[in-house]
Amino acid sequence: MLPELKFGYVGAGAYLPDKVLTNDDLATIVDTDDEWIRRRTGIRERRILAEGESILDMAVGAARAAIADADIDASEITDIRVGVNTWARFPSLATQVQAALGLEGCSAADVSAGCAGFVYAVEEAYNKLYVERIRDHRAGTALIVGVDGLSHITNWQDRSTCVLLGDGAGAVVMREVDSGGILAIRTSAEGRHGQLLYCESALEAQWDPSGPGPFNHATQGVRPYLHMDGRKVYGVAVKTMVEEACGVIDIFNRDNPSPIGVEDIGFVYPHQANLRIIEKVAARLEIPLDRVYTNGIECFGNTSTASIPIGYVDPAARERAAVAGDYEIDVAFGSGFASGAILRQVGSTPTS
Ligand code: ACO
Repeated sequence: MLPELKFGYVGAGAYLPDKVLTNDDLATIVDTDDEWIRRRTGIRERRILAEGESILDMAVGAARAAIADADIDASEITDIRVGVNTWARFPSLATQVQAALGLEGCSAADVSAGCAGFVYAVEEAYNKLYVERIRDHRAGTALIVGVDGLSHITNWQDRSTCVLLGDGAGAVVMREVDSGGILAIRTSAEGRHGQLLYCESALEAQWDPSGPGPFNHATQGVRPYLHMDGRKVYGVAVKTMVEEACGVIDIFNRDNPSPIGVEDIGFVYPHQANLRIIEKVAARLEIPLDRVYTNGIECFGNTSTASIPIGYVDPAARERAAVAGDYEIDVAFGSGFASGAILRQVGSTPTS
């Protein structure tokens, strides 16, 4: 029997660029209008990186806010995991967050899992904290960031995708807690659907037929863009998010003498891809919409791996503040049809 250890969030923070792009702004770029975007997606506006503002700036801003909220010294951090899809370079973003925070030596790595990247990153950090606590008797502290600069891979001529996307970052600090914390996590993927939602590589191995062999060089003049078959993705997103939410409860119930049901869930943070997806997921789970985070999609658009942790600190997230003992679920779905869910319980000192 594995020891029962509790790990949970002790701080949360977010960073959203100041620059706002409204639906009316987009209507000056592509053939669209505010009414279509609101009706089909629920999006009113989104934040976009300004010139000179970077994905690293967002990640570090969210990390600093989470560290301040946790009221810890950054030097206590033993592991940094960054869920990100738009940092197409190396060194990894996590190592650059580490450097910007003035930290040395702690482990740091990026996690690429589409819009489910934050859930995957939390799972990796949780497992590491758990193993190191048992194997090395070391009480660690993890910093987990979800960040994406989707404006970098947006095709501003494609009205079916450019209206959906936004930039942002969210972060949490996670460590051992006395009460509440993470009760179960599950993740899965269906890579065979890769071509329904993808972005090309900026770097491709290219064969030069006139030369002696293949040469790696940057693709000249071609930007990598996000491509999506929105209709096909939509159907699978709803089904998968419902399965993930129910599945994570099942995992918890396996070892639990007092099983819980969907009706016991106090609040859900779904990935903010489209209001209609969120509403359908809530309806299928029979969870009233006032117990589901929706403000992110309306005000920030689809911020991919950042959307769930942004919700943790969004003052408009919920009417009733979290109460100790409440069960909460995070559920995400995205590219690679990678998906996942986290079941958490609010501790005796609820985090923001
Ligand atoms: N403005 C006006 N008209 C538009 C726009 C626009 N921005 N975009 C498309 N249209 C038109 C289309 O051309 C089409 O016109 P037609 O009937 O004359 O051919 C019509 O609207 C319907 O287009 P659909 O693509 O069928 O519209 P749909 O109702 O499916 O909505 C949407 C599109 C919003 C993209 C939806 O399919 C969706 O949300 N899909 C899932 C998105 C998602 O979950 N993504 C996962 C994560 S994303 C990530 O990982 C970054």
